[in-house]
Amino acid sequence: MAIDTVCILGGSGFVGRVLVNQLVSRGKRVRVLTRRREQAKALILLPTVEVLEADVHDEHELQRQFAGTDAVVNLVGILHEETRGRQDQPAARRGDFHEVHVELPRKVVHACGGAGVTRLLHMSALGADPVSRSAYQRSKGIGEALVREAAMPHSDDPNWYLNGPKFVHGQGLAVTVFRPSVIFGRGDSFLNLFARLVRLFPVLPLANPGARFQPVYVEDVARAFADSLENSATHGQTYDLCGPGIYTLEELVRLVAQSLHRHPRILRLGPRLSYLQAWAMEFKPGRPLMTRDNYYAMLKDNVCQGGPALPFEFRPTALEAVLPQYIHGDDTPGRHGRLRRAR
Ligand SMILES: NC(=O)c1ccc[n+]([C@@H]2O[C@H](COP(=O)([O-])OP(=O)(O)OC[C@H]3O[C@@H](n4cnc5c(N)ncnc54)[C@H](OP(=O)(O)O)[C@@H]3O)[C@@H](O)[C@H]2O)c1
Repeated sequence: MAIDTVCILGGSGFVGRVLVNQLVSRGKRVRVLTRRREQAKALILLPTVEVLEADVHDEHELQRQFAGTDAVVNLVGILHEETRGRQDQPAARRGDFHEVHVELPRKVVHACGGAGVTRLLHMSALGADPVSRSAYQRSKGIGEALVREAAMPHSDDPNWYLNGPKFVHGQGLAVTVFRPSVIFGRGDSFLNLFARLVRLFPVLPLANPGARFQPVYVEDVARAFADSLENSATHGQTYDLCGPGIYTLEELVRLVAQSLHRHPRILRLGPRLSYLQAWAMEFKPGRPLMTRDNYYAMLKDNVCQGGPALPFEFRPTALEAVLPQYIHGDDTPGRHGRLRRAR
C-alpha cells in the first residue's frame, strides 16, 4: 500500500516531532493536528508539513481532517490525569485517562471509517493491560484492544469495545499497535526529570528503586512507525519496543548522575515509603513528579518478554551511546517556566 499523506495526532510531542521529521525526510506529506498551534511551532517550517489546530475529541472534526489522507497515526497519550487543569475545559481536552486513551482511539477508528482511511498506527505502552492496577496502564490496555479489534464496528452499542467483538474483524482498516518501554532521547520527560533532581539535591529518596525498565531510543521508535507504515506484514500486529539493555530505576538514576558528573546519595525507599512519597507528590502544585498511579505501574517490570518481532531490521540504540549527548541540556516541556522561576 503506497502512502503519500499521513495525519498525526500528538505530532507536536516528544515522539511526534521525531516521527514527523522522519516522515518528511522520506518524502511524505504530514498533517499534524494539535490543540494549540503554538505547541507544534518546531514543525511549521518543515516543507511538507501542515499544522492544524483541531479539537481531536470531536469525531466529526477528526473525520474532516482525515479526509484525503492515506494513513493516521495516533500518538496522543498522557502520563498523569490533569484533574487540576482549567475546569472550564472538557475533561478530554484537559486530560482524562479514559477520554484520552479509550474514547479518543474509538473516535479515531470511527473517523477513519468515515473518511475512508485504511491504515492506522496506534501508540500504546509496554505494560498496557485492561486489568492493571494502574489506571494509566488499564486505559492504554483497553484502548489498544479496542483499536486492534475495531477495524469496523458492527454495533450501535456505545460500549461495543468493552462488551466484546460484536463487529467484523479487519474490515477495511489495517492497524498496527506499538508498545514501547520508557522512551529516551533529547527532550524526554523521564530521564530529564531525574537530571533535574540530581542537579538540585545531594540526597535523593527514590521510590521503587528496583523497578526494571528497558528504555528505547526515540529515533528507533519513530523508525519502527515509519518502516511499518507501508509494510503489509505489520497489519494486525502488536509490537513491544525495547532497547538493548535492562536497568533498574536506581541504575538509570545513577547513569544520569554519572553523565552529569554528580554523586547524589540515593536513599532506596521500600514499598510503604514509596507509596507515601508518590501520594505526597500528588499535592505538589503544577505537573506532579509522580503519582500513586505511577507507583502501581512500576510494580511490574517494564521489559520486553518475547512477542512478535518486527518484519524488518530493528537494531535498537544503546542508552549509553545517546544519554551524554543530551542530558546536559534541558529542552523538556515546561523548561521556560522553570527558567523564569529560577531567576
Ligand atoms: N515518552 C515515553 O516514555 C512513552 C513510553 C511509552 C508510551 N508512550 C506513549 O507514546 C505517546 C507519545 O508520547 P510522548 O512522550 O511523545 O508524549 P508527549 O510529548 O506528552 O506528547 C503527547 C501529545 O499528545 C497530545 N495530547 C496530550 N494531552 C492531550 C489531550 N488531553 N487531548 C488531546 N491531545 C492531547 C499533545 O498534543 P497537543 O498538545 O499538540 O494537542 C502532545 O503532542 C503517548 O501515547 C504515550 O503514552 C510514551
